Amino acid sequence: ASNAMWGGRFASGPAAIMEAINASIGFDKKLYAQDIRGSIAHSEMLAETRIIERQDQEKIAHGLNTILAEIEAGDFEFSTRLEDIHMNIEARLAELIGPAAGRLHTARSRNDQVALDFRLWVKDELHRVAEALKGLIAAFLTRAEHHAATVMPGFTHMQTAQPVTFGHHCMAYIEMFSRDLSRMRDAIERMDESPLGAAALAGTGFPIDRQMTAKALGFREPTRNSLDSVSDRDFALEFLSIAAICATHLSRLAEEIVIWSTPQFGFVRLSDSFSTGSSIMPQKKNPDAAELVRAKTGRVNGHLIGLLTVMKGLPLTYSKDMQEDKEAVFDAAETLDLMLAAMTGMVGDMEINEAAMKKAAGSGYSTATDLADWLVRTLGLPFREAHHVTGRAVALAESRKLGLEKLSLKDLQSVHPGITDDVFSVLSVQNSVKSRTSFGGTAPAEVRKQIRYWKKRLGKA
Ligand code: ARG
Repeated sequence: ASNAMWGGRFASGPAAIMEAINASIGFDKKLYAQDIRGSIAHSEMLAETRIIERQDQEKIAHGLNTILAEIEAGDFEFSTRLEDIHMNIEARLAELIGPAAGRLHTARSRNDQVALDFRLWVKDELHRVAEALKGLIAAFLTRAEHHAATVMPGFTHMQTAQPVTFGHHCMAYIEMFSRDLSRMRDAIERMDESPLGAAALAGTGFPIDRQMTAKALGFREPTRNSLDSVSDRDFALEFLSIAAICATHLSRLAEEIVIWSTPQFGFVRLSDSFSTGSSIMPQKKNPDAAELVRAKTGRVNGHLIGLLTVMKGLPLTYSKDMQEDKEAVFDAAETLDLMLAAMTGMVGDMEINEAAMKKAAGSGYSTATDLADWLVRTLGLPFREAHHVTGRAVALAESRKLGLEKLSLKDLQSVHPGITDDVFSVLSVQNSVKSRTSFGGTAPAEVRKQIRYWKKRLGKA
């Protein structure tokens, strides 16, 4: 009894729209392998505990393996009408093995099923990303070793601050990426619990063995609260926050590469593989890959905020809202994989222009702190006074359009009569970096020490 005016459309309209908004198969088909793995482990446990017949279990496992092969061969027809990956696979199983298929879902719900599948996927992805990140770290370590003594300007406020070495700068990224790596390990450790067996939300009356399925699926142990098991998406949020932090690190590196590769800086030259030309300006070599890494960080960060916002305020336990967890994670994962691959390529094959770095390191009065330190060490001036004296020397050099080291001894003595010839030894950028021997400092010997530390630590990790 639909309306004569718009009934024709209304009769099918809402159903079609409902299907469109409800279906997740378009993206959750990515979980097929995890879904099949989980179902085989579940059926195995059901047979072991005599909840189903062994004969039926064998049919189920065989059918699921057939489906796995069909999907991997591209021979599987996914149906939107069947909503999601779980129902697509179950329906196909029924086609393949008949009534035995109906026994698979005993003591299980799609709620614990999807929580399991997604956790397995995120855990696997974290292992993959960690491997990719190790590749980037290795590329950086190689560069750091070659350039432990290559002097470049260090910046604060993007203004020349003090000379550092390029190797030291590379090692700063190793610190960041190693923290990302350790966050990945921590997260894997925390999500290493199987939600399978929580069923819809309350557990089940069937004598299931959750330890058995947890172990079979490579988890340390089963989760301890069935309500939390089906409503928790912390593992996805943690993945996204780790991805966002890592992407943020990558974006800082990307920005530095963009700056370093400008003709004005000329510290690095990107290979042709990681840059593009301009359709109008023949001289251009654009750092597109670095710019895109910088930009894609926005996307990854957005997914974190997106899922946090989906989850906030959700009452326990499962709500369909949680179906929105997957696209965020899948896209963030795909994006991060690509960013890491591009960055590893860029870092591995960009050309380092040592002369340009050194020249820049000596400009902008980068050794002014060294002069102040010399005044403290040699003449016993309080640092604040030494700072003042040095400021006058910089002003004098600036008025003559000279570097500090180019001032004559007489000029320097006009600023402070106690200054001797010995001062020139600290005004060179080389000697400046060499003197920074404090733990974690930029002295090449210290940088090499840090490289050895990380090589050893990452080697056994
Ligand atoms: N496609 C659903 C999801 O991704 C699976 C769980 C559905 N459970 C339910 N009770 N409707 O969240």
